Amino acid sequence: MQAIAAQLSAEQIADTAAYYASLPGAAAGVKSAQLPNVAKTGVTFPEGYKDSFTKYHTINFPATKQVRYYYANKAAVAAAKAGTPLPDGAALFVEVHSAKLDDGKPVTGADGFFVADKLLLYTAMARDAGWGKDIPEMLRNENWNYAVFATDKTQRPGVNQAECLACHKPLNNVSYTFTLKQLAEAK
Ligand code: HEC
Repeated sequence: MQAIAAQLSAEQIADTAAYYASLPGAAAGVKSAQLPNVAKTGVTFPEGYKDSFTKYHTINFPATKQVRYYYANKAAVAAAKAGTPLPDGAALFVEVHSAKLDDGKPVTGADGFFVADKLLLYTAMARDAGWGKDIPEMLRNENWNYAVFATDKTQRPGVNQAECLACHKPLNNVSYTFTLKQLAEAK
């Protein structure tokens, strides 16, 4: 899987993710029956991220009519650029927006990306010392923890981190990060 993930283009990854999300009873229903519930997370809302983080990537999600913006803190960018694994202290943060629609179709801007309409939620992954210790080995992503935040910056309740951990786990060779290549190329 990690070999496959490494070969996928951003668009293919987006399509894959959208495909999973579109399956009946996707993530939430089907998988959580088999997965333990991992609710505790060390990830907090990164206040001031617009100033302190680097926006390193954008992906269109045609199936869900969304556009997502990817941000990373300094520790993450520095490591990715140096070609070293993302260290404790690294944080990745995603704004999920609905796309502006015209006649039900996403409007594409001059940059080729969907024009953002409304901010829907944020997803986040971050790591720090000891954050992996309570997570069963079969799910653990070293010290990475995951979280979803609502637009009011509060953590969305009822998120089972086991789903995040399970899907990112095969990417252990690339710091559990789907967009590591784009992060290394951040400007
Ligand atoms: C079905 C597989 C899957 C699940 C489940 C999943 N992710 Fe991801 N995640 C992806 C893929 C694919 C990407 C790359 C593009 C995208 O979809 O945004 C990604 C990207 C991310 C990123 C940007 C950094 C990176 O790895 O490129 C964050 C942050 C993130 N996911 C957080 C989460 C959180 C939080 C959860 C659990 C609530 C979660 N993910 C669950 C597949 C998954």
